[in-house]
Amino acid sequence: MKTEPIVLLSQREIAKMRRAGQLAAALLDYLEPFVQPGVTTQELNDRAEAWTRKHGARSAPLGYNGFPKSICTSVNEVVCHGIPSPKQVLREGDIINIDVTPIVDNYHGDTSRTFFVGEPDTKARRLVEVTEVCLYRGIAAVKPGARVGDIGAAIQAYAEAHGFSVVRDFVGHGINTVFHTEPQIPHYGQAGKGRKLRAGMVFTIEPMINEGTHEVEILSDGWTAVTRDRKRSAQFEHTVAVTEEGVEILTLP
Ligand code: MF3
Ligand code: CO
Ligand code: CO
Repeated sequence: MKTEPIVLLSQREIAKMRRAGQLAAALLDYLEPFVQPGVTTQELNDRAEAWTRKHGARSAPLGYNGFPKSICTSVNEVVCHGIPSPKQVLREGDIINIDVTPIVDNYHGDTSRTFFVGEPDTKARRLVEVTEVCLYRGIAAVKPGARVGDIGAAIQAYAEAHGFSVVRDFVGHGINTVFHTEPQIPHYGQAGKGRKLRAGMVFTIEPMINEGTHEVEILSDGWTAVTRDRKRSAQFEHTVAVTEEGVEILTLP
């Protein structure tokens, strides 16, 4: 297997990633109060697009490999890459992941959170809480000299200890002026394996955690990834930089 080089970003470049990341986080903060029963995923998309433009940025997903909308909205059994639609109305008890990636001064800020629509049932609350902790367990494994497998191992151990499964088919990714690049960051794996982390690497960690099987399938629209058993899936994502001291989360408001 060929090992592609991983770009190391300078302090100046990381500062640009931080600006993009902060805008991405602020966009999720802006959208959160609109996540209510009766709202369509298209309305969330349109609010996101207008807010992004008003802040002098553009939406990376729009037109990316033909993706038709500005954000991804993944409801319940949708694992990722849900396409906003005027026909999709949020209902009490749904969970929805909103994944945003504004481009600011050519750099990408990629972050997502899973929100509750009204009051979730107990299992949904647990799934979402465990998934967020999985993200932070993964982040805590990041420091110079650690290995990519340390991240996945930490996430997988926590998810499976709580009876949930880790999606294999989608992984975190290097990100800079390019949306998706080396390295790949699986959310499962073995500690001590994989590529070594170095200060200046910037990538996402974005675990997708399922109630049932980890297996996914893609719907006929070519994008929407759903669980094979149609049980629910949750996801949280941050863009992080490896620093001399350890790790910096770039997608904080
Ligand atoms: N933001 C997603 C990620 O975390 C990618 C979305 S690509 C799109 O990598 F085309 F579906 F928008
Ligand atoms: Co994303
Ligand atoms: Co991403």
